[in-house]
Amino acid sequence: MCGIVAAVAQHGDVRASVLKGLKTLEYRGYDSAGMAVFAEGSLEVRRKMGKIANLEAELDRNELPASNIAIAHTRWATHGVPADRNAHPHIDDQQKIVVVHNGIIENYLDLRALLAEKGHEFHSDTDTEVLANLIAYYRTQDLDLHQAVRKALSKVEGAYGLVVMSADDPGILIVARLDSPLVVGVAEGESYAASDMPALLHLTRKFLILENRETAVLTDRSQTIFDVDGNPVERDYLHCDWTPEQAEKGGFPHFMLKEIYEQPDVLARTAFDRFHDTEGDVEFESEFSLTNEELGQFERLRFMAMGTSLHAAQLGQKMLGQLAKIPGETLNASEFLYSPELEEGHTLTVVVSQSGETADTLRAMREVQKRGGRVLGICNVQGSTLAREADDLILTHCGPEVGVASTKAFFGQVTALYLLAIRFGRARKVLDADAGRGYLQDLRELRHHLDASFRPEALESVKIAAKYLAGIRSCLFLGRSMQHPVALEGALKLKEISYIHAEGYPAGEMKHGPIALIDEDFPIIAIATPGITYEKMLSTLQEVRARSGKIIAVAAIGDQRVADSADYVLPVPAVPELLAPLVTIVPLQLLSYEVALALGKDIDQPRNLAKSVTVE
Ligand code: F6R
Repeated sequence: MCGIVAAVAQHGDVRASVLKGLKTLEYRGYDSAGMAVFAEGSLEVRRKMGKIANLEAELDRNELPASNIAIAHTRWATHGVPADRNAHPHIDDQQKIVVVHNGIIENYLDLRALLAEKGHEFHSDTDTEVLANLIAYYRTQDLDLHQAVRKALSKVEGAYGLVVMSADDPGILIVARLDSPLVVGVAEGESYAASDMPALLHLTRKFLILENRETAVLTDRSQTIFDVDGNPVERDYLHCDWTPEQAEKGGFPHFMLKEIYEQPDVLARTAFDRFHDTEGDVEFESEFSLTNEELGQFERLRFMAMGTSLHAAQLGQKMLGQLAKIPGETLNASEFLYSPELEEGHTLTVVVSQSGETADTLRAMREVQKRGGRVLGICNVQGSTLAREADDLILTHCGPEVGVASTKAFFGQVTALYLLAIRFGRARKVLDADAGRGYLQDLRELRHHLDASFRPEALESVKIAAKYLAGIRSCLFLGRSMQHPVALEGALKLKEISYIHAEGYPAGEMKHGPIALIDEDFPIIAIATPGITYEKMLSTLQEVRARSGKIIAVAAIGDQRVADSADYVLPVPAVPELLAPLVTIVPLQLLSYEVALALGKDIDQPRNLAKSVTVE
């Protein structure tokens, strides 16, 4: 939520590279944007409500002076409506300190009242303007800039990712973080800061990751990190293996479409190097330190995540249940905090998050650790909070996901969970090597099966169904067993980007209430692929037809029985049941995309959403 980019360079003008970085971060928030520079002895700020394009237009009209130091921000509103005056950067009333901030300062009203008593004036509704004034206040109290920032932060309750620039301290940026991501980028004669690594990939792939409550002083030739007590801290560099091209659209009209098409490669990147074919097993990297003995001792699994990652987690629970015969439950991470504090015992908690920065998920992970439990993280972002704090880690290697509606990350998570199920199954001796090899081979073959989902005839079926769906107001997605989480995910995708109301249900539940909705204007999207649930899904289709409901069915290529019952068919290749979610999700992602396209919606940046939800 909210994106920050900042730069200080020995030579040249950093405005263009900061703006480019900011555009890469637009998925984090897009209700206003702004930039500030220091030039000719003073701070200059430009800010505009709306997307970064509006800021660019403003910068064309009212150019910022060239500068070797700049900070910028794209906002997802927390305090104060989207408006020019609430956009960041925020500057103090003496025009000395300018700040960009992610997160929420919870005690800002108290601090604001204190500062008002001292004569400070405020021009926005934000918590961040209070912070700028608080730092400015301490800067006048015989403290240097770094000390003033630390002093101000000691008074603050809440969360922050922060960059501060001062009129009286040219060439210095102070950065700080608490429960809101912030990375420092390092290059020859240049230092950068950003909320996410993709914002800086066009400038560097060498990073320093700040921990909670740390601050850093950046100049054009140094990056010094300090702990909460102000002592310098040594930190190893993180070399990011993402490329700048991965954070670009690469000829696709939208990131979401590009990311859907990337899924066969995600399968290869997340899985294939981890196959241990002779053993019929999986080898994770060193961040996964669970031994066979430890895996064998767990008696239960608990999966936790939010949103799309929660749906992947639900599939993980089913896969682990089937291949490793270990019971599990899946919880919405935001609800875990309210669960009774029971003994963790022999429970392994698997926490799934694309970004590794989702506040609800991190809070739940820390609660498990506080209760003495062990956490395995499944995450896409190297160096993220989850990646650093989980006791063990599996990275999904999807590359940066930019589209706000998650697609390839889900695919990578489900793939990683399937690998985990094999690893667990082998370690617990539930699977022998032959069986393990079989499951690995199924995954290898899936890559070729996936091609069928992108063939012209498959894409055409999606477009035809989307044309119909674009005209309806509400619908149900139905699936059973392995396809139930896919139904939930299909419904989430549709509502997120087309704003059509959609709910996912286990198909068996339909008769217990939702069936009341069905008439000739109310469609269901049913996943009716081969397997143990097939006949029951056919019965469900009949029940819908008997009430004149329209049916869009995801079915195996050439399945005439389903085709005879459905109005529209989205064909998918027939694959083993455990892996079927990875093929059935593809036409559902494409369906949402095509519906949103037909309705002229903003596909990559749907209203009210932000990619990384860093507030609870
Ligand atoms: C939906 C979507 C969200 C995220 C959720 C968790 O398309 O992207 O539902 O899945 O906010 O995010 P991560 O996986 O980053 O923890």
